[in-house]
Amino acid sequence: MSSKAFHSSAFGADFLWGVAISAAQNEGAHLADGRGLSIWDVFARRQGKIKGNAKPSPSCDFYYRYKDDLLLAKALGFKVFRFSISWSRILPEGIGRINKDGIAFYHKVIDECLLLGLIPYVTLYHWDLPQELQKNGGWTSHQMLKWFSRFVQVCTNAYGDKVKDWIVLNEPMGFTSLGYGLGQHAPGKVSVTSFFDAAHNAMICQAEGGRIVRANVSKAHIGNAFSCSEVLPYSQKPEDKLAARKMDILLNRLFIEPALGRGYPQDVEFPLLEKMHLHNKAWRYTEQMHFNFDFIGLQNYFALTVKHNPLIPYIQASEVKATTRKVPYTALGWEINADSFYRMIKRFWLYGSVKEIMITEGGACYKDQLINGQVNDIERIAYFQLYLEALLKAKKEGININGYLAWTLTDNFEWAFGFDARFGLVHVDFNTQLRTIKNSGYWFRDFLNK
Ligand code: BGC
Repeated sequence: MSSKAFHSSAFGADFLWGVAISAAQNEGAHLADGRGLSIWDVFARRQGKIKGNAKPSPSCDFYYRYKDDLLLAKALGFKVFRFSISWSRILPEGIGRINKDGIAFYHKVIDECLLLGLIPYVTLYHWDLPQELQKNGGWTSHQMLKWFSRFVQVCTNAYGDKVKDWIVLNEPMGFTSLGYGLGQHAPGKVSVTSFFDAAHNAMICQAEGGRIVRANVSKAHIGNAFSCSEVLPYSQKPEDKLAARKMDILLNRLFIEPALGRGYPQDVEFPLLEKMHLHNKAWRYTEQMHFNFDFIGLQNYFALTVKHNPLIPYIQASEVKATTRKVPYTALGWEINADSFYRMIKRFWLYGSVKEIMITEGGACYKDQLINGQVNDIERIAYFQLYLEALLKAKKEGININGYLAWTLTDNFEWAFGFDARFGLVHVDFNTQLRTIKNSGYWFRDFLNK
């Protein structure tokens, strides 16, 4: 397909194009109007945990600049605006007392979206647990279900009349593995038991969250956002293939299969999971982890190649980096592979019980440079073009894909990479807060232009 002919109309008039952001990455204002601290505010104080010892506040100051940013999204031609709710802004202690100013803030954001004709997609949890709950174990605590249920009740009671599109958890595999297993994200725990406890609680919470939204919001359209990465073996040796299979279970199957009512994935050659499965059977969790989502969000940032590595506990697998395999990659070293994106969409669709897929995030990090008021990010444009062509191919094969949300609108706080990794369509000067639409932003504007 020639680049000239490539236009959003190829996806159909109803296809939803949008941008996604998240509270912890965009809002800043971590002490404003009664907000409590989140695990990210606290984690960022630990020396060396975040590149440049960056702090998540003020970031790109969305709390005070949301009107400007929503206008930018609108001006670029997007229809959907996905954002998340900061739990500790609404419930500063995580449970108990409601902070009225916190509730008011998201009303303002939602009202502004509606005024501009942007459809608000609300993510309930995008990784910023209230620190007060972490003090009692956070996601590893069996109380998580009670805490999370209360949060979802409060959010849906407050916004359910205005917001119909809800995403319960953002990438449960991301925050449980990086935050509780590998210690690279907040709250920084390094333990396989913590990871599995957190994962188990997240599986129950994603389903229960869905049930609460269903009960409280009439005509709700409910989803959950799953990360996915195709995992290929480095060689055809049996041990490399087993390594890839184990990694695949963790990255692609662990959270969706319980949500679809299949319980934990099983594999006799992966004893760790067998244990989980038995435990799950004994306690009849399968039903509790099941929820009939209206759509699933997919987020695919890289493909992975892995090989057997006896030194890695439990999975005996390690990544063979894209940078050493001489395949294309982004500034974070993440492999660019649009065919693999296409295959992953297909694979999730083939479960059969997925009703609709939305690409709830997609985007790439590059070393952008602002020169004479311009950011000529041609690599990002090429990335979007490639990935959107792959998406179109999947859609044309009959997969029910209803939309694509670009990650992200403005440069923001990129978790452990701090402010060093830019994903935005709009460049942010973090000293002055000056916004400059990158050429990829203009590319989207033209692509979406009627
Ligand atoms: C997360 C975003 C993050 C992006 C790029 C996704 O996994 O949902 O919060 O910024 O990846 O790393």
